[in-house]
Amino acid sequence: MKVSTSILSCDFSILGKEILKIRNSDIIHFDIMDGYFVPNISFGHDVLKSVRKYTDLPFEAHLMVKEPINFIEKFANSGSDIIIFHLESNSDVLESIKEITKFNKKVGISIKPNTNIEKIFKYLNLIDLVTIMTVEPGFGGQKFINSQSEKIKILKEKINFEGLKTLIEVDGGINEQTSKIVTQNGADILVAGTYILGSENIYKTISDLKKLKTCI
Ligand code: DX5
Ligand code: ZN
Repeated sequence: MKVSTSILSCDFSILGKEILKIRNSDIIHFDIMDGYFVPNISFGHDVLKSVRKYTDLPFEAHLMVKEPINFIEKFANSGSDIIIFHLESNSDVLESIKEITKFNKKVGISIKPNTNIEKIFKYLNLIDLVTIMTVEPGFGGQKFINSQSEKIKILKEKINFEGLKTLIEVDGGINEQTSKIVTQNGADILVAGTYILGSENIYKTISDLKKLKTCI
């Protein structure tokens, strides 16, 4: 299992130090919110740029913004390795994939809880990962929406049936219990923020999550 730690619940006054605490993550997850696509504002590409020197770990930018295509170049040039945009955003999906690929970055598409999983099927062979939201995007620390686990299973079966390498990432409300549910349904990457950063032994929490095995 791969673990992507969301820094949304970090102490931003010491973000560089917080990043050192999650050094055994596989990926560092940055939640970008514009106040339009989601009812919250977070931070921009300059934050990624300023902490890039603290770690060699891959950075993923989860763009919860209305027009992601306008920001891809900025995130690509600020140390992102993976750029994730929302299927429900206003930008053209194929153009956004093309723009991310132009900068040699990995492409992810995220879907909100109310979006049908079938809507992503036609893009699967063009992208590296699908991020299934298991909370409404906008805030950390929310409760996992159980009904979303079925989506993971349907997507995994489709990926296997087509013989694709597309990975499934699950984002929102991941903890000791829900991590087991989603891995049993076929998740390859777990995004977790509150659970990891709020734990007493961050290193161990991450390494325990990494021990889980993807099923299906
Ligand atoms: C929600 C974000 C998530 C969030 C995860 O809008 O996309 O990445 O930070 O945080 P927890 O693990 O607290 O649900
Ligand atoms: Zn996220």
